[in-house]
Amino acid sequence: MTWSVIATWKFSIDGVKAAGKLIEDGGKSLDAVELVARYVEDDPSVDSVGYGGIPNIEGEVELDAAIMNGEDLSIGVVMGVKGYKNPISIARKVLTDSPHNILIGQGAEEFAARIGFEKAILLTDESIKKWLERKKQLATSSKENKGCNKENCDIYGHDTVGIVALDIFKNMACATSTSGIAMKQRGRVGDSPLVGSGFYVDNYIGGAAATGLGEDIMKGCICFYAVQLMGEGYSPQEAAELAVKKIHYRLFEKNGKVGNIAIVCADNKGNFGGAANHEGFEYAAASDKTLPAIYKVKSVV
Ligand code: GLY
Repeated sequence: MTWSVIATWKFSIDGVKAAGKLIEDGGKSLDAVELVARYVEDDPSVDSVGYGGIPNIEGEVELDAAIMNGEDLSIGVVMGVKGYKNPISIARKVLTDSPHNILIGQGAEEFAARIGFEKAILLTDESIKKWLERKKQLATSSKENKGCNKENCDIYGHDTVGIVALDIFKNMACATSTSGIAMKQRGRVGDSPLVGSGFYVDNYIGGAAATGLGEDIMKGCICFYAVQLMGEGYSPQEAAELAVKKIHYRLFEKNGKVGNIAIVCADNKGNFGGAANHEGFEYAAASDKTLPAIYKVKSVV
């Protein structure tokens, strides 16, 4: 009975443990990836996802989430959702209950309300404190208090939870959830809810999920590319490394700089791997052959 769950960052470990158990008990990969995302969304100590996420420049927590079913390539995405704690579950409902793939902002919030999701306050004392501190720093670093603009973007806090899972029925799924970069402009969307960039999965091959600076990640459709590499015979580890290197060097050559990029990959045989263009990236994973553990990743560039 082959299975695996892999998710970006150390903060996913509790969710990965729970999802591994769910799968061992016969649960579906789609439920497993949603479960991991919900664990992280509910954790106020994670300031880049869900409840406790650092707000945009206006002080609002705007969330993006996506889920994909590798069995039929169905997709559910929400972008720029405010006032709901678990955007991943709204995205799941977009996948299952809506004729559309993507709902944004007010439309997504109306959809969530219609199907019975409870409104919630997402700001915490800690996230308000961080927002106020950043506002003050931005005000002193720029005469006009421009916040996040092209010349002076205060980029941090883009640690998305991205998950790929394979269940014992050989079905795969993936998901992402994020509050995006801290102090972003209202309406800004990163890579996480963009199919092919932030996530991709196909039962015939495998899946991938990304984390890092969305503005750069989305330039290379990195998750679709990594899945295609696995389809050509590369292992998940090789595919992750090749995909990160390709987009990194392509952007570096032209721009002389690249934001943080990291991905996790898993194939339909229970193998998994991860790669990053910077030090410090970690992922959590478990499978029928490996106990839940955190893996440290060395930069591949
Ligand atoms: N990778 C998350 C974001 O850029 O929004």
